[in-house]
Amino acid sequence: MILVTGGCGYIGSHCVISLLNQNKKVAVIDNFVNSDKSVLKKINLISKKNILFYEGDLRQKSFLSDVFNKHNFETVFHFAGLKSLSESYKNPLEYFSANINSTINLLQTMQKYKVYNLIFSSSATVYGKDHPLPWTENIKLKFPESPYAQSKVFIENLLLKYYQSDMNFKVGILRYFNPIGCHSSGLIGDRIDGSTNLIPSIMLYLLGKKPYLPIYGNDYKTKDGSGIRDYIHVDDLVNGHIGALKYIIEKKGVHIWNLGSGKGYSVFQIVSKFEEHYKKRIFKKVMPRREGDLSEYWADISKAGKELNWSPSLDIDKMILDSLNHLKKLKEANL
Ligand SMILES: NC(=O)c1ccc[n+]([C@@H]2O[C@H](COP(=O)([O-])OP(=O)(O)OC[C@H]3O[C@@H](n4cnc5c(N)ncnc54)[C@H](O)[C@@H]3O)[C@@H](O)[C@H]2O)c1
Repeated sequence: MILVTGGCGYIGSHCVISLLNQNKKVAVIDNFVNSDKSVLKKINLISKKNILFYEGDLRQKSFLSDVFNKHNFETVFHFAGLKSLSESYKNPLEYFSANINSTINLLQTMQKYKVYNLIFSSSATVYGKDHPLPWTENIKLKFPESPYAQSKVFIENLLLKYYQSDMNFKVGILRYFNPIGCHSSGLIGDRIDGSTNLIPSIMLYLLGKKPYLPIYGNDYKTKDGSGIRDYIHVDDLVNGHIGALKYIIEKKGVHIWNLGSGKGYSVFQIVSKFEEHYKKRIFKKVMPRREGDLSEYWADISKAGKELNWSPSLDIDKMILDSLNHLKKLKEANL
């Protein structure tokens, strides 16, 4: 059986569906800090399968032990955590606690119950800044600025140190670039309320919940002045997890892979793609740059290509069309 922490969240819920489609038995832990119970129903509707669900916080060790006591887990996909870079500056203690303390508890419980396979959601933010493009996994990490990214660097290091103390441990660290898009049903997707990320902000604008789309900085040294990012469809991202699990089961150790598309798109390019597919002009307002935002970055994905036999198959138009399909469902549900 596989345990998915944060399985009601954006990426976790897509991963759960993929695992259920492969007839794996899945249990999910979530505390709903950034999701809600309706996701469980939607997972059930899409997959036509039931999952075991435990509501609780990974920082509660007795809760975790109770869950591990009930099942024979072989693998943990660890998605649970807080993910907003800008929010992490405002609330660093909560970010360190939710990300680092949770992971320590999880590792201690895995150790106690002899569960050795772990796939961990890291982030491209661990690289910090000022590296030649594209970013490869062997770049020497410069300590990043945001508490969010610092928590991910800390956890990556923790996983390495834990492995060095117990070589039964098998870990895949996946450094995500910018996951967007959603399941083709449009039923599940990234939470848009309260997010200042580009896609949720565009969705909020198109839902009529924002009078304009903020563009944070148009004076970067890029072709059109806006920031350039590497976007990857969440379904491709999830496939990378499945490949990573196969790999770590065969090869012990701590392995790191970038998961991105290997291509960069500017903020203005993404906005015009939305305008093209939604057939509506988006009113944009240029705002000051945000703390911690970089000018441009994209991934070198050749390591995942070679070792995991993985490559993204869904292009930027599909990512945007799926997001718009999700928007349609949100509108129908009057959310
Ligand atoms: N989405 C991205 O752009 C992105 C990029 C890079 C890395 N990541 C990482 O991937 C992981 C998943 O991201 P996501 O986009 O699905 O985020 P998400 O917020 O949608 O999902 C995380 C889930 O974990 C739950 N959770 C948080 N803290 C918890 C705790 N202490 N105990 C139990 N449950 C808890 C939340 O309720 C939520 O359902 C995160 O670790 C995030 O940092 C995400």
